[in-house]
Amino acid sequence: MSKGPTFLYDCDTGIDDAITLLYLASLVRAGEAELVGVGTVHGNIDPLTGALNTLRVLEAAGMTEGVPVAVGAPRPMAQDVHYALDWHGTDGLGDTHLPDPAGRPVAESAPAQIVRLAREMPGELTLLATGPLTNLGAALLLDGELPSLVREVVVMGGAFDHPGNITTHAEANIWHDPEAADLVFAADWPVVLVPLDATHPTAVHDDWLDRLGAHDGEVAQFAARILKFYEVAYTPTLKRRGAVIHDALAAMLAVDPGLGEYVHRPVRVELRGELTRGTTVWDARSLPAEDVRRPVKVAVGSDVAAFQERLLTAVVSL
Ligand code: BDR
Ligand code: CA
Repeated sequence: MSKGPTFLYDCDTGIDDAITLLYLASLVRAGEAELVGVGTVHGNIDPLTGALNTLRVLEAAGMTEGVPVAVGAPRPMAQDVHYALDWHGTDGLGDTHLPDPAGRPVAESAPAQIVRLAREMPGELTLLATGPLTNLGAALLLDGELPSLVREVVVMGGAFDHPGNITTHAEANIWHDPEAADLVFAADWPVVLVPLDATHPTAVHDDWLDRLGAHDGEVAQFAARILKFYEVAYTPTLKRRGAVIHDALAAMLAVDPGLGEYVHRPVRVELRGELTRGTTVWDARSLPAEDVRRPVKVAVGSDVAAFQERLLTAVVSL
Protein backbone atom coordinates (compact mmCIF):
# COMPACT_ATOMS: atom_id res chain seq x y z
CA MET A 1 0.00 0.00 0.00
CA SER A 2 1.31 3.44 -0.90
CA LYS A 3 2.07 6.03 1.75
CA GLY A 4 1.36 9.70 1.27
CA PRO A 5 -1.37 11.62 -0.54
CA THR A 6 -3.68 10.28 -3.22
CA PHE A 7 -3.53 13.13 -5.73
CA LEU A 8 -6.05 14.24 -8.30
CA TYR A 9 -4.15 17.01 -10.06
CA ASP A 10 -5.95 19.91 -11.77
CA CYS A 11 -3.65 22.15 -13.83
CA ASP A 12 -3.05 24.30 -16.90
CA THR A 13 0.14 22.70 -18.23
CA GLY A 14 2.20 25.16 -18.43
CA ILE A 15 5.94 25.02 -17.66
CA ASP A 16 5.80 25.01 -13.86
CA ASP A 17 2.80 22.65 -13.98
CA ALA A 18 4.96 20.35 -16.14
CA ILE A 19 7.81 20.40 -13.61
CA THR A 20 5.21 19.64 -10.92
CA LEU A 21 4.01 16.63 -12.91
CA LEU A 22 7.61 15.39 -12.96
CA TYR A 23 7.81 15.88 -9.20
CA LEU A 24 4.56 13.93 -8.73
CA ALA A 25 5.83 11.19 -11.05
CA SER A 26 8.96 10.86 -8.92
CA LEU A 27 6.83 10.52 -5.78
CA VAL A 28 4.69 7.84 -7.41
CA ARG A 29 7.79 5.97 -8.52
CA ALA A 30 9.16 6.13 -4.96
CA GLY A 31 5.84 4.89 -3.52
CA GLU A 32 5.36 8.19 -1.66
CA ALA A 33 2.12 9.25 -3.37
CA GLU A 34 -0.53 8.09 -5.81
CA LEU A 35 -1.71 10.04 -8.83
CA VAL A 36 -5.20 8.86 -9.79
CA GLY A 37 -5.94 11.38 -12.49
CA VAL A 38 -5.23 14.77 -14.02
CA GLY A 39 -7.71 17.38 -15.23
CA THR A 40 -6.81 20.42 -17.29
CA VAL A 41 -8.30 23.87 -17.38
CA HIS A 42 -7.93 27.10 -19.38
CA GLY A 43 -5.19 29.34 -18.02
CA ASN A 44 -1.64 29.22 -19.29
CA ILE A 45 -3.03 27.61 -22.46
CA ASP A 46 -6.31 26.06 -23.70
CA PRO A 47 -7.24 22.88 -21.83
CA LEU A 48 -6.89 20.47 -24.78
CA THR A 49 -3.33 21.64 -25.39
CA GLY A 50 -2.79 21.45 -21.63
CA ALA A 51 -4.02 17.84 -21.64
CA LEU A 52 -1.74 16.88 -24.53
CA ASN A 53 1.15 18.58 -22.71
CA THR A 54 0.26 16.61 -19.58
CA LEU A 55 0.40 13.37 -21.57
CA ARG A 56 3.73 14.42 -23.09
CA VAL A 57 5.18 15.02 -19.61
CA LEU A 58 3.75 11.81 -18.11
CA GLU A 59 5.11 9.83 -21.05
CA ALA A 60 8.53 11.50 -20.70
CA ALA A 61 8.46 10.39 -17.06
CA GLY A 62 7.58 6.83 -18.07
CA MET A 63 4.02 7.02 -16.72
CA THR A 64 2.15 5.75 -19.73
CA GLU A 65 -0.68 3.92 -17.98
CA GLY A 66 -3.14 4.33 -15.15
CA VAL A 67 -3.41 8.12 -15.07
CA PRO A 68 -6.48 9.36 -16.97
CA VAL A 69 -6.07 12.88 -18.32
CA ALA A 70 -9.40 14.73 -18.64
CA VAL A 71 -9.97 17.99 -20.48
CA GLY A 72 -11.84 20.58 -18.44
CA ALA A 73 -13.33 24.05 -18.69
CA PRO A 74 -12.23 26.04 -21.74
CA ARG A 75 -13.21 29.38 -20.21
CA PRO A 76 -13.91 31.08 -16.89
CA MET A 77 -17.37 31.37 -15.34
CA ALA A 78 -17.99 35.09 -15.86
CA GLN A 79 -15.33 36.74 -18.03
CA ASP A 80 -13.38 36.24 -21.23
CA VAL A 81 -10.58 33.70 -21.45
CA HIS A 82 -6.91 34.83 -21.43
CA TYR A 83 -3.82 32.68 -21.93
CA ALA A 84 -0.31 33.24 -20.54
CA LEU A 85 1.61 32.59 -23.76
CA ASP A 86 4.28 35.19 -22.91
CA TRP A 87 5.23 33.13 -19.86
CA HIS A 88 4.75 29.59 -21.16
CA GLY A 89 5.10 29.85 -24.96
CA THR A 90 2.52 29.38 -27.69
CA ASP A 91 2.47 25.61 -27.00
CA GLY A 92 2.51 25.98 -23.18
CA LEU A 93 5.87 24.18 -23.01
CA GLY A 94 8.22 27.01 -23.87
CA ASP A 95 7.84 26.81 -27.66
CA THR A 96 9.53 23.41 -27.71
CA HIS A 97 6.83 22.13 -30.09
CA LEU A 98 7.20 18.53 -29.00
CA PRO A 99 5.65 15.68 -31.02
CA ASP A 100 2.14 14.49 -30.20
CA PRO A 101 1.90 12.15 -27.22
CA ALA A 102 1.04 8.49 -27.80
CA GLY A 103 -1.95 8.66 -25.44
CA ARG A 104 -5.17 10.64 -25.70
CA PRO A 105 -7.31 12.45 -23.13
CA VAL A 106 -10.28 10.50 -21.77
CA ALA A 107 -13.85 11.37 -22.82
CA GLU A 108 -14.98 12.34 -19.32
CA SER A 109 -14.72 16.06 -18.46
CA ALA A 110 -12.36 17.19 -15.70
CA PRO A 111 -15.14 18.39 -13.34
CA ALA A 112 -17.02 15.08 -13.83
CA GLN A 113 -13.80 13.20 -13.12
CA ILE A 114 -13.37 15.11 -9.83
CA VAL A 115 -16.88 14.19 -8.73
CA ARG A 116 -16.60 10.54 -9.80
CA LEU A 117 -13.23 9.93 -8.14
CA ALA A 118 -14.31 11.73 -4.95
CA ARG A 119 -17.39 9.47 -4.79
CA GLU A 120 -15.32 6.35 -5.50
CA MET A 121 -12.72 7.26 -2.83
CA PRO A 122 -14.55 9.20 -0.14
CA GLY A 123 -12.19 10.98 2.24
CA GLU A 124 -9.06 9.98 0.32
CA LEU A 125 -8.39 12.51 -2.41
CA THR A 126 -6.02 15.44 -2.21
CA LEU A 127 -7.20 17.83 -4.90
CA LEU A 128 -4.08 19.69 -6.01
CA ALA A 129 -5.02 22.69 -8.17
CA THR A 130 -2.37 24.79 -9.88
CA GLY A 131 -4.43 26.53 -12.54
CA PRO A 132 -7.58 28.64 -12.50
CA LEU A 133 -10.23 27.04 -10.27
CA THR A 134 -13.00 26.65 -12.85
CA ASN A 135 -13.01 22.83 -12.77
CA LEU A 136 -13.17 22.75 -8.96
CA GLY A 137 -15.90 25.40 -8.96
CA ALA A 138 -17.90 23.45 -11.54
CA ALA A 139 -17.45 20.23 -9.56
CA LEU A 140 -18.80 22.01 -6.45
CA LEU A 141 -21.83 23.05 -8.47
CA LEU A 142 -22.30 19.52 -9.83
CA ASP A 143 -22.20 17.81 -6.44
CA GLY A 144 -23.16 19.67 -3.27
CA GLU A 145 -21.66 16.89 -1.14
CA LEU A 146 -18.22 17.19 -2.70
CA PRO A 147 -16.66 19.11 0.25
CA SER A 148 -17.36 16.23 2.59
CA LEU A 149 -15.86 13.68 0.17
CA VAL A 150 -12.41 15.24 -0.30
CA ARG A 151 -9.52 14.93 2.17
CA GLU A 152 -7.83 18.22 1.31
CA VAL A 153 -7.69 20.88 -1.40
CA VAL A 154 -4.26 22.41 -2.05
CA VAL A 155 -4.26 25.44 -4.33
CA MET A 156 -1.44 27.49 -5.81
CA GLY A 157 -2.85 30.97 -6.14
CA GLY A 158 -3.41 34.40 -4.67
CA ALA A 159 -1.24 37.18 -3.28
CA PHE A 160 -1.65 38.89 0.10
CA ASP A 161 1.36 40.92 1.27
CA HIS A 162 2.92 40.55 -2.16
CA PRO A 163 2.31 42.34 -5.48
CA GLY A 164 0.17 40.56 -8.03
CA ASN A 165 1.73 38.99 -11.10
CA ILE A 166 -1.03 39.69 -13.62
CA THR A 167 -2.41 42.96 -12.24
CA THR A 168 -0.91 45.12 -9.52
CA HIS A 169 -2.95 43.21 -6.91
CA ALA A 170 -4.03 39.89 -8.43
CA GLU A 171 -2.26 36.58 -8.98
CA ALA A 172 -2.88 34.84 -12.31
CA ASN A 173 -4.67 31.64 -11.24
CA ILE A 174 -7.24 33.56 -9.19
CA TRP A 175 -7.57 36.44 -11.68
CA HIS A 176 -8.30 33.99 -14.53
CA ASP A 177 -11.53 32.94 -12.79
CA PRO A 178 -12.34 34.96 -9.65
CA GLU A 179 -15.90 33.59 -9.31
CA ALA A 180 -14.70 29.98 -9.33
CA ALA A 181 -11.94 30.77 -6.82
CA ASP A 182 -14.42 32.38 -4.47
CA LEU A 183 -16.63 29.26 -4.66
CA VAL A 184 -13.63 27.15 -3.64
CA PHE A 185 -12.76 29.41 -0.68
CA ALA A 186 -16.40 29.56 0.42
CA ALA A 187 -16.90 25.78 0.49
CA ASP A 188 -16.72 23.86 3.75
CA TRP A 189 -13.61 21.80 3.01
CA PRO A 190 -10.00 22.03 4.20
CA VAL A 191 -8.11 24.34 1.83
CA VAL A 192 -4.38 25.00 1.84
CA LEU A 193 -3.55 28.06 -0.25
CA VAL A 194 -0.01 28.64 -1.54
CA PRO A 195 0.18 32.25 -2.75
CA LEU A 196 2.93 34.33 -4.34
CA ASP A 197 4.02 35.36 -0.82
CA ALA A 198 5.31 31.79 -0.39
CA THR A 199 6.26 30.89 -3.97
CA HIS A 200 8.27 33.95 -5.05
CA PRO A 201 11.03 33.50 -2.46
CA THR A 202 11.64 29.99 -3.85
CA ALA A 203 12.92 31.30 -7.20
CA VAL A 204 15.74 29.15 -8.56
CA HIS A 205 18.76 30.81 -10.14
CA ASP A 206 22.04 29.97 -11.94
CA ASP A 207 23.28 27.29 -9.58
CA TRP A 208 20.07 25.23 -9.56
CA LEU A 209 19.43 25.67 -13.28
CA ASP A 210 23.01 24.77 -14.18
CA ARG A 211 22.94 21.70 -11.96
CA LEU A 212 19.76 20.58 -13.70
CA GLY A 213 21.24 21.26 -17.14
CA ALA A 214 24.38 19.29 -16.27
CA HIS A 215 22.41 16.05 -15.88
CA ASP A 216 22.34 14.07 -19.10
CA GLY A 217 19.23 12.01 -18.29
CA GLU A 218 16.38 12.51 -20.77
CA VAL A 219 13.93 13.83 -18.18
CA ALA A 220 16.43 16.32 -16.76
CA GLN A 221 17.20 17.52 -20.28
CA PHE A 222 13.47 17.82 -21.03
CA ALA A 223 12.98 19.91 -17.86
CA ALA A 224 15.99 22.10 -18.65
CA ARG A 225 14.70 22.64 -22.19
CA ILE A 226 11.21 23.80 -21.20
CA LEU A 227 12.60 25.95 -18.38
CA LYS A 228 14.77 27.96 -20.80
CA PHE A 229 11.75 29.92 -22.07
CA TYR A 230 10.51 30.50 -18.53
CA GLU A 231 13.93 31.79 -17.41
CA VAL A 232 13.88 34.41 -20.15
CA ALA A 233 10.30 35.39 -19.28
CA TYR A 234 11.24 35.74 -15.59
CA THR A 235 14.46 37.72 -16.04
CA PRO A 236 12.84 41.21 -16.03
CA THR A 237 10.91 40.41 -12.82
CA LEU A 238 13.77 38.71 -10.98
CA LYS A 239 16.39 41.06 -12.48
CA ARG A 240 18.65 38.07 -13.17
CA ARG A 241 18.40 34.59 -14.67
CA GLY A 242 15.89 32.56 -12.69
CA ALA A 243 12.47 30.95 -12.53
CA VAL A 244 9.69 30.67 -9.97
CA ILE A 245 8.36 27.11 -10.08
CA HIS A 246 5.23 28.10 -8.18
CA ASP A 247 3.15 24.96 -8.67
CA ALA A 248 5.77 22.56 -7.36
CA LEU A 249 5.77 24.28 -3.96
CA ALA A 250 2.04 23.59 -3.59
CA ALA A 251 2.65 19.91 -4.42
CA MET A 252 5.54 19.65 -2.00
CA LEU A 253 3.59 21.28 0.84
CA ALA A 254 0.78 18.79 0.21
CA VAL A 255 3.27 15.97 0.75
CA ASP A 256 5.25 17.58 3.57
CA PRO A 257 3.26 20.37 5.27
CA GLY A 258 6.11 20.79 7.76
CA LEU A 259 8.15 22.60 5.09
CA GLY A 260 5.76 25.58 5.25
CA GLU A 261 4.77 28.38 7.62
CA TYR A 262 1.07 29.20 7.71
CA VAL A 263 -1.63 31.51 8.96
CA HIS A 264 -5.29 30.46 9.20
CA ARG A 265 -7.72 33.06 7.88
CA PRO A 266 -10.96 33.28 5.96
CA VAL A 267 -10.20 34.21 2.34
CA ARG A 268 -12.42 36.02 -0.14
CA VAL A 269 -11.88 37.07 -3.72
CA GLU A 270 -12.59 40.64 -4.78
CA LEU A 271 -15.18 40.29 -7.56
CA ARG A 272 -16.21 43.87 -8.21
CA GLY A 273 -13.22 46.20 -7.72
CA GLU A 274 -12.28 48.21 -10.80
CA LEU A 275 -8.57 47.96 -9.92
CA THR A 276 -8.65 44.91 -7.68
CA ARG A 277 -10.89 42.27 -9.34
CA GLY A 278 -9.36 38.84 -8.80
CA THR A 279 -7.41 39.86 -5.69
CA THR A 280 -7.40 37.52 -2.69
CA VAL A 281 -8.36 39.25 0.55
CA TRP A 282 -7.87 37.79 4.00
CA ASP A 283 -9.35 38.90 7.28
CA ALA A 284 -6.32 39.76 9.43
CA ARG A 285 -8.13 41.57 12.24
CA SER A 286 -7.26 40.51 15.73
CA LEU A 287 -10.82 41.08 16.87
CA PRO A 288 -13.04 38.02 16.54
CA ALA A 289 -13.74 37.91 12.83
CA GLU A 290 -17.32 38.28 11.69
CA ASP A 291 -16.56 36.21 8.62
CA VAL A 292 -18.35 32.89 8.89
CA ARG A 293 -16.19 31.24 6.27
CA ARG A 294 -14.04 28.30 7.27
CA PRO A 295 -10.44 29.59 7.63
CA VAL A 296 -8.03 28.71 4.85
CA LYS A 297 -4.53 27.53 5.75
CA VAL A 298 -2.41 30.08 3.88
CA ALA A 299 1.29 29.40 3.34
CA VAL A 300 3.33 32.52 4.02
CA GLY A 301 6.79 30.99 3.80
CA SER A 302 8.69 27.75 3.37
CA ASP A 303 12.07 26.10 3.81
CA VAL A 304 13.40 27.36 0.49
CA ALA A 305 16.64 25.36 0.46
CA ALA A 306 14.80 22.09 1.18
CA PHE A 307 12.23 22.82 -1.54
CA GLN A 308 14.87 23.54 -4.16
CA GLU A 309 17.01 20.53 -3.27
CA ARG A 310 14.10 18.07 -3.14
CA LEU A 311 12.71 19.31 -6.44
CA LEU A 312 16.03 18.98 -8.22
CA THR A 313 16.63 15.51 -6.77
CA ALA A 314 13.13 14.43 -7.83
CA VAL A 315 13.44 15.64 -11.42
CA VAL A 316 16.88 14.13 -12.02
CA SER A 317 15.81 10.84 -10.41
CA LEU A 318 13.38 10.04 -13.23
C1 BDR B 1 0.59 30.58 -11.60
O1 BDR B 1 0.21 31.10 -12.87
C2 BDR B 1 0.62 30.22 -13.88
O2 BDR B 1 1.16 30.93 -14.96
C3 BDR B 1 1.62 29.29 -13.28
O3 BDR B 1 1.54 28.02 -13.92
C4 BDR B 1 1.20 29.22 -11.83
O4 BDR B 1 0.23 28.24 -11.63
C5 BDR B 1 1.51 31.56 -10.92
O5 BDR B 1 0.84 32.78 -10.71
CA1 CA C 1 -0.21 26.54 -13.33
